[in-house]
Amino acid sequence: MKIIGTGRALPKHTVTNDMLSEILDTSDEWIVPRTGIHTRQVITDETLQELSCAAACQALSDSGLKPEEIDFIICSNVANNYITPAMSAFIQEATGCTCPFFDINGACAGFIDALDIADAFMQSGRAQNVLIVAAEEVTKFCNWEQRETSVLFGDGAGAAVVQKDDVPCYTVLTGDSHHKGCITYLRPMEKTPYEKDGMAIHQPMIMKGRDVFRMAVTTSPRDLRNVIAKAGMKPEDVTFFLVHQANKRIVDAIRENLNLPEEKFPTIIDHTGNTSSASIPLLIDEVARQGRFKKGDVLALSAFGAGFVTAAAILTWGK
Ligand code: COA
Repeated sequence: MKIIGTGRALPKHTVTNDMLSEILDTSDEWIVPRTGIHTRQVITDETLQELSCAAACQALSDSGLKPEEIDFIICSNVANNYITPAMSAFIQEATGCTCPFFDINGACAGFIDALDIADAFMQSGRAQNVLIVAAEEVTKFCNWEQRETSVLFGDGAGAAVVQKDDVPCYTVLTGDSHHKGCITYLRPMEKTPYEKDGMAIHQPMIMKGRDVFRMAVTTSPRDLRNVIAKAGMKPEDVTFFLVHQANKRIVDAIRENLNLPEEKFPTIIDHTGNTSSASIPLLIDEVARQGRFKKGDVLALSAFGAGFVTAAAILTWGK
């Protein structure tokens, strides 16, 4: 499988660490060394639907394909205002595609889950081209009373068009529900006449930061080694490692574990924060726009998140 087009849309409002220190007991001096984050883009008067559609249209145009050549649209999203219809319905309308569409929630690993599903469609002969969009507005559900979580996140949408190739997309997906308490968020739904009182619990996001950190730096190098072996490659064969942008220290720890040079691990966390599943397609799009990819480059992707889920993939740059 190869990537033949990418796109992005970020909210226009930039929030600096100093701006956060005006509303929270935090500081640039605390945030930068622990996370590598300087600024993040935060939704104000945009909607996530608008951002997803803009990123999708850009990726489609970049791919050079016509809307009718897309066989499936998959949107990765943890939460947005609409419980239904799916975000991908808005994307189909905006892009002029006519194919089936659906959303998935794979937490921060959702973009790689979508690649895995797209590859299965390709291997079964049901798809040649798939449009994948990952769109997240994490700032709308992180806990703004809590400095531990709110300084980490940003919003945005990234998109990619992937095409069937001689070589499949190699993937490794894992799930470990024993660690589901690492990140949880509970929101109430409509109250029915039959529901017992006290059932509609609201619990803002809880994140055990140190546990997540430990899980991430252990699982990501393991997944990357496994997926590289599955593809019959060696780490040196990979041109770029595109790792979920949760924390610069996590990216550095993964790179040090694999003993690879810094230039193989591009990052955008300094100006996006953690955008959940949107982080990898946003990273790919930015590296592409810097002109750093060459046709045939091998890309290794790795992500981890609430669940606790992890995912890694190997595919090629096809433009
Ligand atoms: N500003 C100032 N102080 C803060 C703070 C903030 N934004 N957030 C936490 N603190 C304080 C805590 O209250 C705690 O204080 P205490 O020691 O007096 O109790 C202390 O800083 C914790 O510091 P430390 O233990 O050095 O933090 P850390 O090195 O574990 O870093 C994270 C915290 C959250 C940055 C780090 O654990 C992390 O990035 N984890 C992964 C989170 C993640 O990626 N989540 C999403 C996964 S998809």
